[in-house]
Amino acid sequence: AYVITSRCAGFKDGACREVCPCDCIYDAGEQFVINPDDCIDCGACVTACPVEAIFADIDLPAEHSAALHFNRAFFES
Ligand code: SF4
Ligand code: F3S
Repeated sequence: AYVITSRCAGFKDGACREVCPCDCIYDAGEQFVINPDDCIDCGACVTACPVEAIFADIDLPAEHSAALHFNRAFFES
């Protein structure tokens, strides 16, 4: 699944949600997040984001490793 990092915070552009074909991107307050159970790995959100805040989980930079849990945790409450 794809993951939105903290680079989204302060921008929250919303373009990712516009292009997502399965409506699995949600506003989590400080940033947007992706529901990993519904993401189909199409990658459309990556190119739509103007601040390059989104990564495939397997390509997630080490400094953004916390984003993996943050995205999933939003949907487990
Ligand atoms: Fe939506 Fe595709 Fe991005 Fe997954 S990779 S969140 S399905 S736009
Ligand atoms: Fe955030 Fe980029 Fe989407 S700034 S809301 S991840 S388009």
